[in-house]
Amino acid sequence: MSDEPSGPVSDDARVPRAVAIIMDGNGRWAEARALTVADGHRAGTKALRRVVEAAIDLGIETLVVYAFSTENWTRPTDEVEDLMELLSETIDGELPDLAKQGVRTRFLGRRDRIEPWLDEKMGALEAETEELDTLNLWIAFDYGGRAEIAHAARRLVEDGVDPAAVDEDTLSARLYAPEMGEIDLLIRTSGELRLSNFLLWEAAYAELVFTDTLWPDFDAADLGAAVQAYAARQRRFGARTRS
Ligand code: IPE
Ligand code: IPE
Ligand code: MG
Repeated sequence: MSDEPSGPVSDDARVPRAVAIIMDGNGRWAEARALTVADGHRAGTKALRRVVEAAIDLGIETLVVYAFSTENWTRPTDEVEDLMELLSETIDGELPDLAKQGVRTRFLGRRDRIEPWLDEKMGALEAETEELDTLNLWIAFDYGGRAEIAHAARRLVEDGVDPAAVDEDTLSARLYAPEMGEIDLLIRTSGELRLSNFLLWEAAYAELVFTDTLWPDFDAADLGAAVQAYAARQRRFGARTRS
Protein backbone atom coordinates (compact mmCIF):
# COMPACT_ATOMS: atom_id res chain seq x y z
CA MET A 1 0.00 0.00 0.00
CA SER A 2 1.41 3.39 -0.92
CA ASP A 3 1.78 6.21 1.60
CA GLU A 4 0.13 8.62 -0.80
CA PRO A 5 -3.65 8.75 -0.47
CA SER A 6 -5.29 7.92 -3.78
CA GLY A 7 -8.52 9.78 -3.06
CA PRO A 8 -9.33 13.46 -2.93
CA VAL A 9 -7.75 13.90 0.51
CA SER A 10 -7.26 17.60 1.01
CA ASP A 11 -4.09 19.49 2.00
CA ASP A 12 -6.25 22.47 2.83
CA ALA A 13 -5.96 23.16 6.59
CA ARG A 14 -9.55 24.39 6.51
CA VAL A 15 -10.69 20.85 5.79
CA PRO A 16 -10.54 18.80 9.01
CA ARG A 17 -8.43 15.65 8.67
CA ALA A 18 -10.51 13.67 11.11
CA VAL A 19 -14.22 14.22 11.73
CA ALA A 20 -16.29 12.43 14.37
CA ILE A 21 -20.08 12.35 14.43
CA ILE A 22 -22.48 11.48 17.22
CA MET A 23 -25.35 10.27 15.07
CA ASP A 24 -28.26 11.11 17.35
CA GLY A 25 -32.00 11.63 16.91
CA ASN A 26 -33.21 8.48 15.17
CA GLY A 27 -35.87 7.87 17.82
CA ARG A 28 -37.26 11.39 17.68
CA TRP A 29 -37.20 11.33 13.86
CA ALA A 30 -39.32 8.17 13.91
CA GLU A 31 -41.66 9.46 16.60
CA ALA A 32 -42.38 12.61 14.59
CA ARG A 33 -43.52 10.39 11.72
CA ALA A 34 -45.41 7.86 13.82
CA LEU A 35 -42.87 5.23 12.72
CA THR A 36 -41.12 2.61 14.84
CA VAL A 37 -37.76 3.27 16.46
CA ALA A 38 -36.34 0.56 14.18
CA ASP A 39 -37.53 2.60 11.16
CA GLY A 40 -35.68 5.56 12.60
CA HIS A 41 -32.47 3.57 12.94
CA ARG A 42 -32.89 2.24 9.39
CA ALA A 43 -33.25 5.79 8.07
CA GLY A 44 -30.10 6.56 10.05
CA THR A 45 -28.10 4.00 8.08
CA LYS A 46 -29.15 5.73 4.83
CA ALA A 47 -27.90 9.00 6.25
CA LEU A 48 -24.60 7.34 7.11
CA ARG A 49 -24.05 6.26 3.55
CA ARG A 50 -24.88 9.76 2.24
CA VAL A 51 -22.53 11.38 4.72
CA VAL A 52 -19.62 9.02 3.98
CA GLU A 53 -19.93 9.92 0.29
CA ALA A 54 -20.07 13.61 1.16
CA ALA A 55 -16.97 13.22 3.34
CA ILE A 56 -15.07 11.71 0.39
CA ASP A 57 -16.10 14.66 -1.79
CA LEU A 58 -14.91 17.13 0.85
CA GLY A 59 -11.50 15.44 1.10
CA ILE A 60 -11.92 14.30 4.70
CA GLU A 61 -9.41 11.55 5.47
CA THR A 62 -10.94 9.95 8.55
CA LEU A 63 -14.56 9.75 9.67
CA VAL A 64 -15.53 8.24 13.03
CA VAL A 65 -19.21 7.61 13.67
CA TYR A 66 -20.88 6.67 16.95
CA ALA A 67 -23.27 3.83 16.20
CA PHE A 68 -23.71 2.03 19.53
CA SER A 69 -22.39 3.06 22.92
CA THR A 70 -21.44 0.95 25.92
CA GLU A 71 -24.51 2.52 27.56
CA ASN A 72 -26.89 1.60 24.70
CA TRP A 73 -27.04 -2.01 26.01
CA THR A 74 -29.47 -0.64 28.60
CA ARG A 75 -32.11 -0.03 25.89
CA PRO A 76 -35.01 -2.49 25.46
CA THR A 77 -33.84 -5.91 24.24
CA ASP A 78 -35.83 -5.59 21.01
CA GLU A 79 -34.15 -2.33 20.13
CA VAL A 80 -30.69 -3.71 20.89
CA GLU A 81 -31.43 -6.72 18.68
CA ASP A 82 -32.66 -4.42 15.91
CA LEU A 83 -29.47 -2.40 16.12
CA MET A 84 -27.32 -5.54 15.86
CA GLU A 85 -29.36 -6.69 12.86
CA LEU A 86 -29.09 -3.28 11.25
CA LEU A 87 -25.31 -3.27 11.61
CA SER A 88 -25.31 -6.63 9.86
CA GLU A 89 -27.57 -5.30 7.07
CA THR A 90 -25.34 -2.25 6.70
CA ILE A 91 -22.25 -4.47 6.39
CA ASP A 92 -24.04 -6.45 3.65
CA GLY A 93 -25.87 -3.62 1.90
CA GLU A 94 -24.16 -0.24 2.20
CA LEU A 95 -20.54 -0.86 3.07
CA PRO A 96 -19.60 -2.94 -0.03
CA ASP A 97 -20.76 -0.03 -2.22
CA LEU A 98 -18.68 2.32 -0.14
CA ALA A 99 -15.74 -0.07 -0.48
CA LYS A 100 -16.04 0.34 -4.26
CA GLN A 101 -15.46 4.02 -3.63
CA GLY A 102 -12.29 3.24 -1.67
CA VAL A 103 -13.68 3.32 1.87
CA ARG A 104 -11.72 1.31 4.39
CA THR A 105 -14.00 0.35 7.28
CA ARG A 106 -12.87 -0.55 10.77
CA PHE A 107 -14.72 -0.91 14.06
CA LEU A 108 -13.83 0.82 17.27
CA GLY A 109 -14.90 -0.54 20.62
CA ARG A 110 -15.27 -3.68 22.66
CA ARG A 111 -15.57 -6.86 20.66
CA ASP A 112 -16.08 -9.33 23.50
CA ARG A 113 -19.81 -8.67 24.01
CA ILE A 114 -20.87 -8.81 20.38
CA GLU A 115 -22.31 -12.11 19.19
CA PRO A 116 -19.78 -14.25 17.30
CA TRP A 117 -21.74 -14.22 14.00
CA LEU A 118 -21.69 -10.43 13.95
CA ASP A 119 -18.13 -10.15 15.16
CA GLU A 120 -17.10 -12.42 12.28
CA LYS A 121 -18.85 -10.18 9.76
CA MET A 122 -17.19 -7.13 11.21
CA GLY A 123 -13.78 -8.79 10.98
CA ALA A 124 -14.41 -9.91 7.40
CA LEU A 125 -15.29 -6.40 6.27
CA GLU A 126 -12.21 -5.00 7.97
CA ALA A 127 -10.06 -7.57 6.17
CA GLU A 128 -11.75 -7.03 2.79
CA THR A 129 -11.25 -3.26 2.88
CA GLU A 130 -7.82 -3.07 4.48
CA GLU A 131 -6.02 -2.01 1.30
CA LEU A 132 -8.41 0.87 0.60
CA ASP A 133 -7.43 4.43 1.40
CA THR A 134 -9.77 7.01 -0.07
CA LEU A 135 -11.41 7.43 3.31
CA ASN A 136 -10.94 5.73 6.68
CA LEU A 137 -14.31 4.98 8.20
CA TRP A 138 -14.36 3.95 11.86
CA ILE A 139 -17.66 2.69 13.21
CA ALA A 140 -17.75 3.03 16.98
CA PHE A 141 -19.80 0.06 18.16
CA ASP A 142 -20.02 -1.03 21.78
CA TYR A 143 -17.76 1.93 22.24
CA GLY A 144 -17.27 4.01 25.38
CA GLY A 145 -14.52 6.55 25.95
CA ARG A 146 -14.07 5.50 29.56
CA ALA A 147 -13.90 1.81 28.64
CA GLU A 148 -11.26 2.67 26.04
CA ILE A 149 -9.08 4.54 28.52
CA ALA A 150 -9.51 1.74 31.10
CA HIS A 151 -8.48 -0.74 28.37
CA ALA A 152 -5.33 1.31 27.67
CA ALA A 153 -4.50 1.42 31.38
CA ARG A 154 -4.93 -2.34 31.64
CA ARG A 155 -2.56 -2.82 28.72
CA LEU A 156 0.06 -0.59 30.32
CA VAL A 157 0.04 -2.90 33.33
CA GLU A 158 0.00 -6.06 31.20
CA ASP A 159 2.95 -4.73 29.21
CA GLY A 160 4.88 -4.13 32.44
CA VAL A 161 5.45 -0.47 31.66
CA ASP A 162 7.47 1.27 34.35
CA PRO A 163 5.18 3.76 36.17
CA ALA A 164 7.73 6.50 35.49
CA ALA A 165 7.35 5.81 31.75
CA VAL A 166 3.56 6.23 31.77
CA ASP A 167 2.76 9.40 29.87
CA GLU A 168 0.37 10.58 27.16
CA ASP A 169 2.32 8.80 24.42
CA THR A 170 2.57 5.42 26.14
CA LEU A 171 -1.11 5.51 27.08
CA SER A 172 -2.43 6.73 23.72
CA ALA A 173 -0.40 4.01 21.97
CA ARG A 174 -2.63 1.53 23.82
CA LEU A 175 -6.02 2.98 22.92
CA TYR A 176 -8.21 0.88 20.60
CA ALA A 177 -6.82 2.45 17.41
CA PRO A 178 -3.81 4.73 17.87
CA GLU A 179 -3.56 5.07 14.07
CA MET A 180 -6.91 6.90 14.00
CA GLY A 181 -5.28 10.00 15.45
CA GLU A 182 -6.74 13.14 17.00
CA ILE A 183 -10.20 14.37 16.13
CA ASP A 184 -10.31 17.82 14.51
CA LEU A 185 -14.06 18.31 14.28
CA LEU A 186 -16.77 16.63 16.36
CA ILE A 187 -20.39 17.00 15.27
CA ARG A 188 -23.46 16.02 17.26
CA THR A 189 -26.89 16.02 15.70
CA SER A 190 -30.34 16.33 17.28
CA GLY A 191 -29.71 19.32 19.53
CA GLU A 192 -28.20 17.45 22.49
CA LEU A 193 -25.19 19.26 23.94
CA ARG A 194 -23.07 16.47 25.41
CA LEU A 195 -20.38 13.95 24.50
CA SER A 196 -22.16 10.85 25.85
CA ASN A 197 -18.82 9.10 26.46
CA PHE A 198 -17.54 9.48 22.87
CA LEU A 199 -13.80 9.79 22.12
CA LEU A 200 -12.96 11.39 25.45
CA TRP A 201 -9.23 11.16 24.77
CA GLU A 202 -9.08 11.70 21.01
CA ALA A 203 -11.42 14.70 20.97
CA ALA A 204 -9.57 16.57 23.73
CA TYR A 205 -8.93 19.48 21.32
CA ALA A 206 -11.65 18.92 18.75
CA GLU A 207 -13.76 21.81 17.53
CA LEU A 208 -17.38 21.10 18.44
CA VAL A 209 -20.37 21.67 16.18
CA PHE A 210 -23.90 20.98 17.38
CA THR A 211 -26.87 20.97 15.06
CA ASP A 212 -30.58 20.55 15.73
CA THR A 213 -30.95 18.40 12.61
CA LEU A 214 -31.97 14.85 13.49
CA TRP A 215 -29.50 12.26 12.20
CA PRO A 216 -31.77 10.68 9.53
CA ASP A 217 -32.18 14.18 7.97
CA PHE A 218 -28.45 15.01 8.05
CA ASP A 219 -27.02 15.36 4.54
CA ALA A 220 -24.08 16.60 2.47
CA ALA A 221 -25.12 20.22 2.95
CA ASP A 222 -25.16 19.78 6.75
CA LEU A 223 -21.68 18.23 6.68
CA GLY A 224 -20.50 21.05 4.41
CA ALA A 225 -21.91 23.62 6.85
CA ALA A 226 -20.12 21.97 9.79
CA VAL A 227 -16.84 21.96 7.85
CA GLN A 228 -17.36 25.64 7.00
CA ALA A 229 -17.93 26.42 10.67
CA TYR A 230 -14.70 24.55 11.44
CA ALA A 231 -12.83 26.54 8.79
CA ALA A 232 -13.84 29.77 10.48
CA ARG A 233 -12.54 28.69 13.92
CA GLN A 234 -9.17 29.66 15.27
CA ARG A 235 -7.52 26.67 16.92
CA ARG A 236 -5.12 27.72 19.62
CA PHE A 237 -4.23 24.54 21.51
CA GLY A 238 -3.61 26.63 24.60
CA ALA A 239 -1.10 28.99 23.02
CA ARG A 240 -1.46 32.77 22.86
CA THR A 241 -1.84 33.32 19.15
CA ARG A 242 -3.62 35.93 17.12
CA SER A 243 -4.51 36.01 13.47
C1 IPE B 1 -29.12 7.55 17.92
O1 IPE B 1 -30.48 7.79 17.92
C2 IPE B 1 -28.81 6.10 17.61
C3 IPE B 1 -28.34 5.31 18.76
C4 IPE B 1 -28.09 5.79 19.95
C5 IPE B 1 -28.13 3.91 18.55
P1 IPE B 1 -31.37 7.63 19.22
O2 IPE B 1 -32.01 6.30 19.19
O3 IPE B 1 -30.60 7.95 20.44
O4 IPE B 1 -32.45 8.76 18.94
P2 IPE B 1 -33.16 9.67 20.04
O5 IPE B 1 -32.09 10.38 20.80
O6 IPE B 1 -33.96 8.76 20.90
O7 IPE B 1 -34.01 10.61 19.24
C1 IPE C 1 -25.09 8.55 21.93
O1 IPE C 1 -26.46 8.80 21.80
C2 IPE C 1 -24.75 7.23 21.34
C3 IPE C 1 -24.91 7.10 19.90
C4 IPE C 1 -25.27 8.06 19.08
C5 IPE C 1 -24.61 5.81 19.37
P1 IPE C 1 -27.47 8.46 22.97
O2 IPE C 1 -28.82 8.87 22.47
O3 IPE C 1 -27.31 7.06 23.42
O4 IPE C 1 -26.96 9.42 24.13
P2 IPE C 1 -27.72 10.06 25.37
O5 IPE C 1 -28.43 8.94 26.07
O6 IPE C 1 -28.69 11.07 24.83
O7 IPE C 1 -26.64 10.71 26.16
MG1 MG D 1 -30.28 9.67 21.45
